[in-house]
Amino acid sequence: MAVIGRRLLLSLCGLTALVVMLDHIVNMSVVETSKLITSHREWRDYGDGSRYSVQLSAVTTSSSSAKPSTTIPTAVTQKPVKKTSYPLTLTSPYLINNPSMCKSDSKLNFVFIVHTSTDHFNRRNAIRQTWGNIRALRNLSFRVVFFLGLTKNKKIQTMLENESTVYGDIIQGQFMDSYHNLTHKGVLTYRWISEFCSNTELVVKVDDDMFVNIFNLVDHYLPIYRNASRKIMCHLRPQGTSPIMREKSKWQVHVDQFKNITHYPVPYCNGYFVLISSDIIRQLYRASYLTPFFWVDDVYLYGLLPQKIGNVTFTSITVNLTLHQETGMKCYTGNTTCKYLASYAEKQGYMESMWFAALRMFKNIAEKIVVKELL
Ligand SMILES: *[C@@H]1O[C@H](CO)[C@@H](O)[C@H](O)[C@H]1NC(C)=O
Ligand SMILES: *[C@@H]1O[C@H](CO)[C@@H](O)[C@H](O)[C@H]1NC(C)=O
Ligand SMILES: *[C@@H]1O[C@H](CO)[C@@H](O)[C@H](O)[C@H]1NC(C)=O
Ligand SMILES: *[C@@H]1O[C@H](CO)[C@@H](O)[C@H](O)[C@H]1NC(C)=O
Ligand SMILES: *[C@@H]1O[C@H](CO)[C@@H](O)[C@H](O)[C@H]1NC(C)=O
Ligand SMILES: *[C@@H]1O[C@H](CO)[C@@H](O)[C@H](O)[C@H]1NC(C)=O
Ligand SMILES: *[C@@H]1O[C@H](CO)[C@@H](O)[C@H](O)[C@H]1NC(C)=O
Ligand SMILES: *[C@@H]1O[C@H](CO)[C@@H](O)[C@H](O)[C@H]1NC(C)=O
Ligand SMILES: *[C@@H]1O[C@H](CO)[C@@H](O)[C@H](O)[C@H]1NC(C)=O
Repeated sequence: MAVIGRRLLLSLCGLTALVVMLDHIVNMSVVETSKLITSHREWRDYGDGSRYSVQLSAVTTSSSSAKPSTTIPTAVTQKPVKKTSYPLTLTSPYLINNPSMCKSDSKLNFVFIVHTSTDHFNRRNAIRQTWGNIRALRNLSFRVVFFLGLTKNKKIQTMLENESTVYGDIIQGQFMDSYHNLTHKGVLTYRWISEFCSNTELVVKVDDDMFVNIFNLVDHYLPIYRNASRKIMCHLRPQGTSPIMREKSKWQVHVDQFKNITHYPVPYCNGYFVLISSDIIRQLYRASYLTPFFWVDDVYLYGLLPQKIGNVTFTSITVNLTLHQETGMKCYTGNTTCKYLASYAEKQGYMESMWFAALRMFKNIAEKIVVKELL
């Protein structure tokens, strides 16, 4: 599993040297993360078209006992990490990039970072033609950026380069596009935003099989983020509520990771839809230099890295997300307003149906932000 791009030997002369060395990289407390964690996801698919699903068995998603918001205390300075492997994406060049994507606007309202796989041409097109159609929306400035890794298939690579020439919205990092490399993809998104797209108010991470109700986003969540800092809103897994998988399987967490612990000791997000205030993106990226690589992306990207930088407030918006696409469809096509900010929409045609249904349902908002032709 371990992909060792570079090994930063941090066994320097103590924390002072470490902080001095990393001064250009990170200005934050260093805390030891000797323990690693994993998550349970409802479903996942990737590159080769296969699909993985995991039982959420003991996980309580309602988490009635948990507070809706959790603030992680600022990390306390401890010992530096001794020896670890770091994500390959930290320094490797982009295989496909469009450095000027965010530059034409001085300020963006939001940027969607879409985790996609190399051969998901249809899903990317469905997004470009529906909620991610930047030509359909006015009075808003946003971008949709697709992140993927390497493919061994030369034909697919050629098609990706063509797709990038046509749309200019593809970012390809130097790691094989696979399940156990999803953390690389996420670190790549943090890096890319830091380098090329920091002029945004809000970062929305979303998987390529999700429908995003841009009307609820603009109406309800964008104002929240207008003045927010250090804020993550998502399908929250409160600290200590998600069991660590120890059974022999693809998702098995080695006994040496989170030794003697049965549940994850940090809050983290299910990664299918995550809102992140842009002020912490660069810090999250920098924190990946100090956080040992761990393949479970949700825990690493939305748990360990926020814990590392400290003082991040998590708010659960699980009630406004659905992973059940029939429920989502019924809601958007129903008679009363639909609260869902995002819905799973993997079935053929669902992205389009939800989009046109939402256009009708949220006509009042749409009139302000959608081009006349679509109304
Ligand atoms: C780093 O943080 C310290 C303490 O918060 C602060 O005094 C210092 O100015 C910061 N340095 C930079 C380069 O931001
Ligand atoms: C939206 O943009 C149009 C021009 O495309 C402008 O006439 C209108 O005033 C704008 N509406 C709002 C609410 O900003
Ligand atoms: C390049 O992409 C465009 C737009 O998606 C498509 O129409 C065209 O067939 C593609 N060409 C190749 C060689 O894949
Ligand atoms: C992750 O990507 C690296 C670099 O391309 C590759 O060597 C490694 O095999 C990949 N890991 C998995 C689990 O696919
Ligand atoms: C956001 O902050 C500005 C200045 O700090 C303040 O004037 C404004 O009322 C705030 N808006 C909201 C919605 O809190
Ligand atoms: C883990 O549990 C074993 C046996 O219960 C105990 O001997 C060991 O000290 C524990 N290790 C840690 C790190 O708590
Ligand atoms: C934590 O973040 C809030 C803003 O969300 C800020 O006002 C506060 O000073 C921060 N505290 C520390 C210890 O960094
Ligand atoms: C869910 O969405 C509704 C409608 O947009 C909103 O009023 C409510 O505050 C949201 N709840 C959360 C927890 O975000
Ligand atoms: C929606 O409204 C129509 C007409 O007002 C009504 O016939 C229909 O039964 C309603 N459907 C639901 C699910 O409430």
